[in-house]
Amino acid sequence: MSDRYGEFVQSSLGKKVAKNLGLPLPVTLDRFEAGEPLVRGSVLVGRADGDDKNISASVARILADLHAEVYVNSSDDIKDALADAGIEAKANTGGDDKFKALVFDASNISNADQLKEVYAFFHSEARRVEQSGRVVIVGRPPENITDIEASLAQRALEGFVKSVGKEFKRGITAQLVYVEEGAEQNLDSTLRFFTSARSAYVSGQVVRISKGNEVEVDWTQPLGGKTMLVTGASRGIGEAISRVLAREGAHVICLDLPQQQADLQNVASQISGSVLTVDITSEDAGKEIAEAAQKRGGLDAVIHNAGITRDKTLAKMDESKWDTVMDINLGSVARLNSYLLENDVLNDDARIVCVSSISGIAGNMGQTNYATSKAGVIGLVDATAPQLDSNAKGMTINAVAPGFIETQMTAAIPFAIRESGRRMNSMSQGGIPVDVAETIAWLASPAAGGLNGNTVRVCGQSLLGA
Ligand SMILES: NC(=O)c1ccc[n+]([C@@H]2O[C@H](COP(=O)([O-])OP(=O)(O)OC[C@H]3O[C@@H](n4cnc5c(N)ncnc54)[C@H](O)[C@@H]3O)[C@@H](O)[C@H]2O)c1
Repeated sequence: MSDRYGEFVQSSLGKKVAKNLGLPLPVTLDRFEAGEPLVRGSVLVGRADGDDKNISASVARILADLHAEVYVNSSDDIKDALADAGIEAKANTGGDDKFKALVFDASNISNADQLKEVYAFFHSEARRVEQSGRVVIVGRPPENITDIEASLAQRALEGFVKSVGKEFKRGITAQLVYVEEGAEQNLDSTLRFFTSARSAYVSGQVVRISKGNEVEVDWTQPLGGKTMLVTGASRGIGEAISRVLAREGAHVICLDLPQQQADLQNVASQISGSVLTVDITSEDAGKEIAEAAQKRGGLDAVIHNAGITRDKTLAKMDESKWDTVMDINLGSVARLNSYLLENDVLNDDARIVCVSSISGIAGNMGQTNYATSKAGVIGLVDATAPQLDSNAKGMTINAVAPGFIETQMTAAIPFAIRESGRRMNSMSQGGIPVDVAETIAWLASPAAGGLNGNTVRVCGQSLLGA
């Protein structure tokens, strides 16, 4: 479904009209393109004063790997970490330079007063972030800190980051990454994702990185040699997920309903994947997936994307609408996970990624069935993550919660509700399926071993449930 208003405001007349009437002004978001550098411009890095230099060392190593053009403020002692990583950082003179990304190591902030360092770093740069720029603050998980002053200071960063996301506009995103002590080596995939155009429609998110297995990857094909199954792959978000996973090197088993065979075949053949037609609610779905997976040496990731809506207000909702939505969106996902785990269909370091929805976080009129099922998906992730932690096979489970994504599902929403869903977020526009797909590819990567139990919203920082 095309966003006619979004297209109109790209014209000079449209821009003028929107400005004069105080209407939202969505910009064209940068999106990943093969051959483009991951970070498309200079990066200003900084660090709050203190003794813990571990996060800075990781940030420096990752930026060196990316061959990023790095700037630093003259008084900042992060220069040493950058030099150790072989980066000759340029001095930020505060002149006309613009930055594509601002990365700040806040791990040393240990009381409310010291939060002033975050203010100072970002205050002077707030107007110098380029369109589709990236703000990333890295801290320590407050729940792991026993000192009250230090814990509250780390927790406070969340309010700062979410406000920056709402304030900076122009397609600029802001994220907070909490890295557990000792998990600094697992920062790579997340920092790469959040500083790149791949995270175009993800903003205001808080992600936790724990120790997990460190797996070396070839960053040009991070999913190379992996077999990944995507449910609901014949169209919409599932099709985009399949294409992105294949682009990153995976062999994708594309699963959908038998009646979707033609479209499914079309997607699979374009990405050299394979086809599996099965209804995920059927009794032998687990067995059929296992058979398909075993032909390829097991699964390295399963992406539970298939889902439906059957909207009605509760009083008007017949039982079948409740039952079908619950079974497809939640019941089958839980059953399949149990089957795949119990029958060793998932390889070591396998990734499970579930597609939830911001309806499951915020609730939605006419969607008691859908919102219940999607909140249940988050519950499934929360409950499964610690079990995977303790089974010592390096597996992880995470969820993405898309907001308004332009697909057949959202095209069916009545005009007024559709238009408000599109605009009520920091990007003033809907996302597109590839935005969800890129986020899933990050979570499905072997390099994402430190990410377990996260729910990441892909909603342009929607106001719903925020
Ligand atoms: N589009 C959005 O804005 C949005 C927002 C939040 C969450 N989501 C979620 O993203 C996922 C994909 O949504 P979409 O917009 O691409 O939907 P879509 O309707 O375009 O695609 C869903 C796919 O799932 C398949 N499917 C349905 N039931 C199945 C079953 N029993 N067995 C196997 N396959 C089945 C369908 O055939 C279809 O190909 C869903 O889980 C949806 O709830 C979408």
